[in-house]
This record gives sequence, structure tokens and C-alpha cells, in this order.
Amino acid sequence: MSLSSVANQATGSSLPPLNIAMVGHAFMGRAHGNAYRQANRFFDLPRAVVPYVVVGRDQERAEAAAQKLGFLRATTDLDAVLADPDVHVVDVATPNDSHHAIAMAALRAKKHVLCEKPLAMTLAQAKEMAALAKKQKVRVGLWHNYRRAPAVAQAAKMIARGDLGAIRQVRAVYLQDWLADASVPASWRTSRKACGSGAHGDLNAHLVDLTRALTGLQFESVCGVQQTFTRQRPDGRGGMAKVDVDDAFLFLARFQGGAIGSYEATRVAQGRKNHNCLEISGEKGSIRWNLERMNELEVFLVDEPRDAQGFRTVICMDSVHPYAANWWPDGHIVGYEHTFVHHVADFVRALHDGSAFAPNFDDGVAVQAVLDAALQSAKDGGFVKVPR
Ligand SMILES: NC(=O)c1ccc[n+]([C@@H]2O[C@H](COP(=O)([O-])OP(=O)(O)OC[C@H]3O[C@@H](n4cnc5c(N)ncnc54)[C@H](O)[C@@H]3O)[C@@H](O)[C@H]2O)c1
Repeated sequence: MSLSSVANQATGSSLPPLNIAMVGHAFMGRAHGNAYRQANRFFDLPRAVVPYVVVGRDQERAEAAAQKLGFLRATTDLDAVLADPDVHVVDVATPNDSHHAIAMAALRAKKHVLCEKPLAMTLAQAKEMAALAKKQKVRVGLWHNYRRAPAVAQAAKMIARGDLGAIRQVRAVYLQDWLADASVPASWRTSRKACGSGAHGDLNAHLVDLTRALTGLQFESVCGVQQTFTRQRPDGRGGMAKVDVDDAFLFLARFQGGAIGSYEATRVAQGRKNHNCLEISGEKGSIRWNLERMNELEVFLVDEPRDAQGFRTVICMDSVHPYAANWWPDGHIVGYEHTFVHHVADFVRALHDGSAFAPNFDDGVAVQAVLDAALQSAKDGGFVKVPR
């Protein structure tokens, strides 16, 4: 019996399978693996999503992950996975410096690709990936999962229908504190060679994507400043490793059309755990969303009676809100992991009916252009134009 038929039996579904090969199986591997298992249970999809194979660097660890995450098997042989005609989608859930090589190999093998963010280490790499995806006529997605929090999708809907009027300002912060302690060991996240930049590529990448998704604004120029507070960390072998990425990275932005924005990404903001928060102000109102209260949207609209005005909180888990009806009765809230399930469900539908899926690699290129320009600005000083 082929693995594909095992896959169908495993899902108990008569739908055509969509077999996923997931490269990397740690933090994001767990989040993606969970999403693949949940997608068909909560969304009516045209394909049965099958967690098919985990690809790792160590067979034993990959097997343990496959078992825990509900994949059919594990391997360390990526080439064999790419040569397998039963593999439909390759999921890149590895550190940043491997995204380009793995995604390019998967695209050459004509697989659909879901890649973790940031798409690449440089704008040039990102452009290459986007171009190859188009040439191979496969579908691609980028895991900027926060777009698919119900409250974020609701905010995007309200901004698109003009509730806030023309957008004037974006105030965005992504604050964490897990590197505030100098004794936290070095990792790929503190090495420029492995990740490109620190809080910037990790956290500002999400803020830039969210800005684009929510407002449609095009970044015109940026002016950045960065700081590394701890310049070496324990290497786990009794020595110290150099830290050559930013702990904190702030930048100002000018958008086409005259809007302006401020951005702050940090991993040393004591007390802040995962404070991913955007406040967007337009001519007719403002909206604020914070991941730590992710089902809530704070809304202020000037059209409301003056004597009753003020920010009010909308719980975006009513059946009228995006994604909410797929889960529970009104007001029964969802969490971080649901954003990944939504991402998978939307991708499967787009794959089936040929509709657009965002964010894709073109969006990844646009985000990378902003990130690279801000890095250049932090190095050289002054505003730097964001390349098109
Ligand atoms: N969307 C989000 O909200 C979000 C959150 C965290 C991380 N990320 C992104 O996800 C990616 C992975 O981050 P993570 O937190 O899961 O990291 P992690 O360190 O927890 O896991 C990385 C995994 O990749 C494996 N790996 C490393 N190099 C590999 C290679 N060359 N080939 C195959 N496997 C390899 C490791 O063994 C491990 O299983 C990063 O690009 C990161 O920026 C995104």
C-alpha cells in the first residue's frame, strides 16, 4: 500500500489528500503540525490535509517529532522527499538562513511552498524565490500568521470599507523580554549569519506585514536605529559566543500618500512577553490590536455621538467576525495556534480554486525591502528609500 493511501486511511477522508512535508520540527514545527491536524476538523475544505513527513537533521529526533506531531513518518533525506511525487506541499519551518536553499529546491521540484518568515536573508534572495515560484507556476505562502487572528482580519475589513477614513498614522510595537537577561545562551537567533538580524527580522517583519495587510499602505522610506545591549552570551560549551544582531530596533516610516508610522521591535523590554500591538489612526477613527488580548479590537469612531465617544472594545468572536463561526458559539475565544489553522485552511482553499493567497512571496519581497532599507538606514543614518 502506498503512503498516500495510508495517508487517506489515516485521515479517514475520501477527499483527495494534500500531503505535507515539513522541514524543521521545533517551535514552528509544533505550531504548523497542529494546524495541519486541525484544519479539516474545523473547516470544510476541498482536500484532506495530511501531515505526511517530517524532515529533520537527526533521524531519531525527527522520528520522535513525527510521532508527537502526528506525521506518518520522518526522514533526514530532503532530496528524496522532493523527488516523491506524493509530496504536494513543502513547509519550511527552519531558521532564516536555510529558507532560501530549501524553498528554492522545493520550487525546482515543483512543490507548493509554505515558508516561515522572514522569507529570506536579503532582498536579492527574496526576489529570486518569488521569481522562481512564478516561473514554476506553483502556489506559495508566507507564515505571517497574525494576519489571520479574527480581530486582525476584522480590523482589515473595517479599514478597507472606510470606517477609519484615510489612514494617517501607524504606531506599531512588538515587545519581548526573553533576551533581557545576559545569561540567556546564544542561539541561531543571536547570530547574524544564521538569522540576518535580531528583533528586527524576527519581530519588525510581522509589524511590516501587518501594516501592509491592514492598511494597504506602501512604505516609501524608513529611518532606523538599533542597539545591542549584550554583546556576548554563553555558547553552551563553557565559552562565550559573540552576539552580532540587534536586541532592539526602532524605525520611522513615510508611506506613499503622506501617512507616517513608527515601529519598535525589542527582545529586552522587561515585563513584555509577546506584546505585538498596532494602533492605526485615520481621519474618522482609530483601531488598536494587541496580541496579548488577541480577540479584542479597540475601536474609536468620530461618527458616534460626541457625548458617548471613546474607545470601546469589540470582542471579535461573534459569528459575524472572520473565522469565528468555524470554531465555537459566540464569545468562546480562540488563541495563538488558531491563526496557523486559519492560514492552512485559506491556503488549501486558494490552492483548490486558484484564488489569490496572501501573504505570498511577493509580499515577502515587499517586507524584505522595508527590513533591508531600515538596516541600511541604521548603518548609514538618515532616511533610506524603500526599493520597489
Ligand atoms: N510565524 C511566527 O509567528 C514565527 C514564530 C517563531 C519563529 N518563526 C520563524 O520560524 C522559523 C523557525 O523558527 P523556530 O522558532 O521554529 O526555530 P527552532 O529553533 O525552534 O526550530 C528550528 C528547527 O529547524 C531545524 N533545522 C535547523 N536547520 C535546519 C536545516 N538546515 N535543515 C533542516 N532542519 C533544520 C532544527 O533542528 C529545528 O527543528 C524561523 O525562520 C523563525 O523566524 C515564525
